[in-house]
Amino acid sequence: MTKIISGFSKRSKLEKIDWIADTYFSNADAAKAVLKQYWHSDEALQQLHDEFIENTVSNYYLPLGVAPNFLINGEVYTIPMAIEESSVVAAASKAAKFWLDRGGFKTEVIATKKIGQVHFMYTGNPEHLQQYFKHIKAQLIADAKPITRNMEKRGGGILAIELRDKTQDIDNYYQLHASFETLDAMGANFINSCLEQFAKTFKDGALHFETFTATERDITIVMSILSNYVPECLVRAEVSCPVEALQEKNGISGHDFATKFVQAVAIAEVEPYRAVTHNKGVMNGIDAVVLATGNDFRAVEAGVHAYAAKDGRYSSLSHAKIENGIFKFWMDIPLALGTVGGLTGLHPLVKLALELLGQPSAKTLMQIVAVAGLAQNFAALRSLTTTGIQQGHMKMHLMNILNQFEASPAEKLTLTEHFKTHTVTHSAVVDALKKLRV
Ligand code: MEV
Repeated sequence: MTKIISGFSKRSKLEKIDWIADTYFSNADAAKAVLKQYWHSDEALQQLHDEFIENTVSNYYLPLGVAPNFLINGEVYTIPMAIEESSVVAAASKAAKFWLDRGGFKTEVIATKKIGQVHFMYTGNPEHLQQYFKHIKAQLIADAKPITRNMEKRGGGILAIELRDKTQDIDNYYQLHASFETLDAMGANFINSCLEQFAKTFKDGALHFETFTATERDITIVMSILSNYVPECLVRAEVSCPVEALQEKNGISGHDFATKFVQAVAIAEVEPYRAVTHNKGVMNGIDAVVLATGNDFRAVEAGVHAYAAKDGRYSSLSHAKIENGIFKFWMDIPLALGTVGGLTGLHPLVKLALELLGQPSAKTLMQIVAVAGLAQNFAALRSLTTTGIQQGHMKMHLMNILNQFEASPAEKLTLTEHFKTHTVTHSAVVDALKKLRV
């Protein structure tokens, strides 16, 4: 049977399911049943999800967990997290509790500037282009007024537009490099609409600019798009406490803990192989909250990793030091987030997540998300430099292994109890299950 199909998007949902089930699955009925099992019984809710994207055939569930006890600038938050990795919410909760007793997290939004660019080709005298840019700049802003008016009323809008000469990189390549303030909106549609209007005004205006020669008038717009690199949409999160306060009951000394912790961060600062994994731990926290609050985690991921490489070598996002007996752990991270627009007013669980956080502004959400990242990083480093990561990780993974072997509720109860005092490994769980089943 052919695997190529035309007009797929125009078929009904049931027809689409029939086609994929019959084309790709040995047991078509079983495949159809799995897809339908995840449909919502509330038809309106299902339709809402169907309409988020094209060709929806089912819903893909992720757990939504919450991590309580996050003290941030004196306010306590319970943070929603959508993630599949077993240990992440547990680690966040543990880190929150640890810092709750030590003054909590402090945060600060450093800047909220977002960037967009019109990339174009111009062949001719660069001086003429400069003159044209000066001439047309006010018109670029004026023509975008219908798009920017409402944003301006609220205090945002276009911050600046520059002409950038990129001909050293590619012959004839220039940019209109624009910056924006989008307040509580992530702003992708706003920025892209402004940019497309700039491009139109810029190209059309060139046709009538007298200084230009005929060739110079023919500006080619290559594309107009926002940048997900947002080094000036930046938030800082930090924790600090006297080194002795890091001492835990029956644990290693505060001094030993802090020293090793700082060493672990220093390694991630200089060693890219470690930095990537270190930052992955940060993103465990960031992505989970970004997803739960209906934001674009791909944009955040792209921007964060570019920022981690901004000095020419991929490095740790977080930093740590001991100074005058004080342990300090902090991170500056670029986060372009929104709390209005997009999914935020549409997805019932996103609305719930935002209400749980007290309907935060985008700036407040930046701070909460940064804290989730720093907390996750703290929890990972704390485990790595003390017990090792597997102890906690495998404990949380136990239920996945039990589910994989379809353990009954009674078996789960017995084995959870058993593994409170035994090391969890895949084979140890399988053996213990086998023993129970003889
Ligand atoms: C696992 O999801 C994340 C860690 O690897 C992060 C780290 O190594 O710092 C534990």
